[in-house]
Amino acid sequence: MRDLSPRPEELEPIELASRDEISALQLARLKQSLGHAYRNVARYRQKFEAAGVHPDDLTSLDDLRRFPFTEKSDLRETFPFGMFAVPRDRVIRIHASSGTTGKPTVVGYTRNDLDMWSNLMARSLRAAGTRPGDVVHVAYGYGLFTGGFGAHYGAERLGCTVVPVSGGMTPRQVALIEDFGATTICATPSYMLSIMDEYRAQGRDPAESPLQTSMFGGEPWTNAMRAEIETAFDMHAIDCYGLSEVIGPGVAMECVETKDGLHLWEDHFYPEIIDPETGAVLPDGEVGELVLTSLTKEALPVIRYRTRDLTRLLPGTARSMRRIEKVRGRSDDMIILRGVNVFPSQIEEQILATQGLAPHFQIELSRDGRLDSMKVLAEPATALPGDAALRLAGGLQKRIKQTLGITVTVALQPPGGVKRSDGKAQRVIDRRPKA
Ligand code: DLL
Repeated sequence: MRDLSPRPEELEPIELASRDEISALQLARLKQSLGHAYRNVARYRQKFEAAGVHPDDLTSLDDLRRFPFTEKSDLRETFPFGMFAVPRDRVIRIHASSGTTGKPTVVGYTRNDLDMWSNLMARSLRAAGTRPGDVVHVAYGYGLFTGGFGAHYGAERLGCTVVPVSGGMTPRQVALIEDFGATTICATPSYMLSIMDEYRAQGRDPAESPLQTSMFGGEPWTNAMRAEIETAFDMHAIDCYGLSEVIGPGVAMECVETKDGLHLWEDHFYPEIIDPETGAVLPDGEVGELVLTSLTKEALPVIRYRTRDLTRLLPGTARSMRRIEKVRGRSDDMIILRGVNVFPSQIEEQILATQGLAPHFQIELSRDGRLDSMKVLAEPATALPGDAALRLAGGLQKRIKQTLGITVTVALQPPGGVKRSDGKAQRVIDRRPKA
């Protein structure tokens, strides 16, 4: 892998600013953002008044904890444009996240919002080691999902050659990477595994590809999967975090020189970690739910937005802005199996640690009588005779029991048998009766 670390002079001054400078900027911007939301969004005004707070009450960053949370339900109940803080004709772009039930969550951007987002995505790509002139292959979905357009505008802003492929048609992805000499790829990590399989199916060695670095996100993935992709492609696999409600991708980004968690772009988003049960703010270093407040957004300011994502805040390293630890999952993805809490990402780790298994998997939950049970669908890397397949399945089952303390059944599928996706992977199929 090539050393792609940016030189200090390639960074924006704010990326290297002191904590004091960052906090001062945050306080000034936070006051403006609270005032903007209060003046222009009826729902924020009502919520602030019900909580007995006014934007003028904020005199320090810590005062933010007196303000009420915003949740996905606030956006749903004001569908489609009720949380917009500017007249609709100043909104020049709409995105939406489908969600699993009911109406989508609609988000809007003014010209300044798109400008800020493009700058942050350019900064994020730079953190991944991408430079002006690189060929950036965008395999995130284009459309209402924020991944495709987010990466696209960021790469253009950085001065790259953008190849806007979107997801799907995997054989063509490989051909385009090779023919156009892509040096950076943007994709969900699970889709990158499908691209990896396609390389091998075509008899090509992924390590020979022109790719040097990447921006992977949109779903949880583990360091074990990072190692798998980095070894196969001989490239850097870099984590990118974000969510539509807050802007899209580009809220936090890992740096290629450290790969030690994701620097949260604190000049535009103010992070807090809370106890998801009580809502109390937790000190840096403790694991809880990430809550984000936008500092500069115009069309859709979000004040203390509850992401449901579980992580912790860590001090800055490659940049002075704080890091979030790799997001292990959403509080709503946590499975409680006979009293033990498990995230799909923990199953992923065990699959990747089992020699002979491909990195694809799904989890099926069902209920036998009163107890929940978990079936792990996995597949061998290459076709195996029946007894070898049984041994491999038994090995995974034992490893999960030993490391996670849960009893699961393992159903080994033939190679290619686990369902693939060209965007976010569906890791959990819940067949339990609805309460
Ligand atoms: O997934 C935005 C995005 C696109 C981020 C491409 C990164 C790359 P939504 O569709 O609104 O937006 O989904 C947001 O996806 O709350 C997390 O639960 C999850 N998520 C996103 N990135 C990561 C990541 C986009 N790097 C939701 N690690 C978030 C873990 C992630 N989970």
